Amino acid sequence: MEKILVIGCSGQIGSELTLELRKMYGDSNVVATDIRPAPADILESGPFEILDVLDAGKLQLVCEHEKITQVYHLAAILSGNAEKRPMPSWEINMRSLFNVLEIAKALKLKKIFWPSSIAVFGPTTPRMNTPQYTTMEPNTVYGISKLAGERWIEYYYQKYGIETRSLRYPGLISYKTEAGGGTTDYAVEIFYDAIKTGKYECFLSSETALPMMFMPDAIKATIDVMEAESFKLSLRSSYNVAGICFTPHTLANEIKKQIPDFEISYKPDFRQAIADSWPDCIDDSVAQKDWGLTYEYDLPRMTQVMIDEIRRK
Ligand code: NAD
Ligand code: SER
Repeated sequence: MEKILVIGCSGQIGSELTLELRKMYGDSNVVATDIRPAPADILESGPFEILDVLDAGKLQLVCEHEKITQVYHLAAILSGNAEKRPMPSWEINMRSLFNVLEIAKALKLKKIFWPSSIAVFGPTTPRMNTPQYTTMEPNTVYGISKLAGERWIEYYYQKYGIETRSLRYPGLISYKTEAGGGTTDYAVEIFYDAIKTGKYECFLSSETALPMMFMPDAIKATIDVMEAESFKLSLRSSYNVAGICFTPHTLANEIKKQIPDFEISYKPDFRQAIADSWPDCIDDSVAQKDWGLTYEYDLPRMTQVMIDEIRRK
């Protein structure tokens, strides 16, 4: 019997992944935790606890008391917010990971999921079809923490045999929960503003291409890599996941097909430099080969669902 702990269940990914895990493992077998309250559907469907992942003692108590076997550790400070508060963000991103890895070692937990990001790449990385193995010199606090985290999860796998699994998520697009302070957030905000006001002022320039992914595809990929048989995984750092690649200009044109009067303007801020250091599109052939990564959503399909669902809200 698996018993799952989700850390960061109230965030953009956690608010959807928790419910999907409850469908798979049973509501009472997925313990949701966050430092802030969870959405109503998580509170109503199963166990929830307020937990600061930096509190290693409480984290261990919860894991022992609930007889946890797997952890999805989603708590982090994302790229934009981390640049505003470098040291506290480094502390949260790194110490939380060490707390989880040390408890996994002490309690012999079966599997840990911890997401990395396209932020592990930097200005010296090839921008087009960025390979799985390439130059990695991130120049953001968030990117440095994700690259360090990748090295540490591989270390814990090699030294202690802990089944660590990870994806380098691109920017994630979803309609349930607002994005958490990253550089790719424009691709979520744009839909809300298009529907509410017919206008959007984008904080990235019109031709800034970035890899993005619709949440249902991200959740499927997360569960697939966690469910994959161990011998199929050729790496224990983190898999490139490409998703769909577009610019703000391309996305705005796609939205205009549904909302013809939509207007976009551009006022790049500090996040432009972060985006400029990340790839345009990445190569995820290793994930396809190892555990069969696939996608359901392209840009038109994702745009249609986003507009329909936000209008419904
Ligand atoms: P988010 O900011 O929406 O959610 C993170 C959650 O963690 C929040 O609910 C927050 O309250 C919680 N949290 C923060 N500090 C905590 C603490 N000390 N203890 C317990 N909980 C705490 O982030 P997200 O977008 O859901 O991202 C989840 C993970 O995926 C992160 O590791 C992030 O780096 C990674 N990721 C996200 C994206 C994306 O586009 N959303 C892309 C790449 C990687
Ligand atoms: N969406 C994330 C960010 O912009 C990428 O990891 O920070």
